[in-house]
Amino acid sequence: MMLPPGWPVTLSDGPVVLRPYQRRDARAWSEVRRANEQWLAQWEPTPPGPWYELNSPSSFRYVLRELRRSARLGEAMPFAVCYDGQLVGQLSIGNIVRRAFCSGFAGYWVDSRMAGRGIIPTALALAVDHAFSAGGLHRIEVNIRPENAPSRRVVEKLAFREEAYHPRYLHIDGTWRDHVGYAVTAEDVASEGGLLARWHRLSRPMV
Ligand SMILES: CC(C)(COP(=O)(O)OP(=O)(O)OC[C@H]1O[C@@H](n2cnc3c(N)ncnc32)[C@H](O)[C@@H]1OP(=O)(O)O)[C@@H](O)C(=O)NCCC(=O)NCCS
Repeated sequence: MMLPPGWPVTLSDGPVVLRPYQRRDARAWSEVRRANEQWLAQWEPTPPGPWYELNSPSSFRYVLRELRRSARLGEAMPFAVCYDGQLVGQLSIGNIVRRAFCSGFAGYWVDSRMAGRGIIPTALALAVDHAFSAGGLHRIEVNIRPENAPSRRVVEKLAFREEAYHPRYLHIDGTWRDHVGYAVTAEDVASEGGLLARWHRLSRPMV
């Protein structure tokens, strides 16, 4: 079977590790998802049923099957995000379209108990650099509800470009929500040695 460009892979920077999900993540995934319903539901696609059931350890089997299917087809790079060896979130490059577009959407979340440590900016920088190299992509978009200040900070800290305003763009938390479109292209970060290098430069300025 032909594997898609850049998948599977494990990426890391210090305590932040991105890797494909494994079957044995079921319990940890369920614990973190169930503990974060209030934190996550307002920003996620409208779920087809009750949160508690959709995020049970046994539901993980179906989640994993779907993530693996889209990864195998080259449509997504769905990473588990780990910090100090613990599963704390997810970062996916999804909706990958190749040919003349070579673009994908990034989506992410982190456990509220681990927020504010720069885990997701680091994870996003790692994933984008990989997508632009082994993944063969040229552009990554992030679409964010205007009121999601923490998520807008993530892309603004990485110096993504704000490019668009999409009225009633995605069905999130029960209805069609406006989104602000941000993007970065391979050319934007090539001269800096990649997005992770940019993030290190911007977050840890030399004095
Ligand atoms: C958006 C999100 C992924 C950011 O991840 P993170 O690893 O905490 O990112 P950072 O550490 O860079 O923090 C980003 C901003 O969150 C805010 N923040 C920090 N700690 C926080 C906390 N405990 N609670 C809420 N917001 C916090 C700060 O404004 C921070 O910006 P700053 O560095 O300028 O102070 C995370 O807030 C989250 O999972 N939110 C819910 C899901 C979501 O919104 N996903 C994105 C949909 S587009």
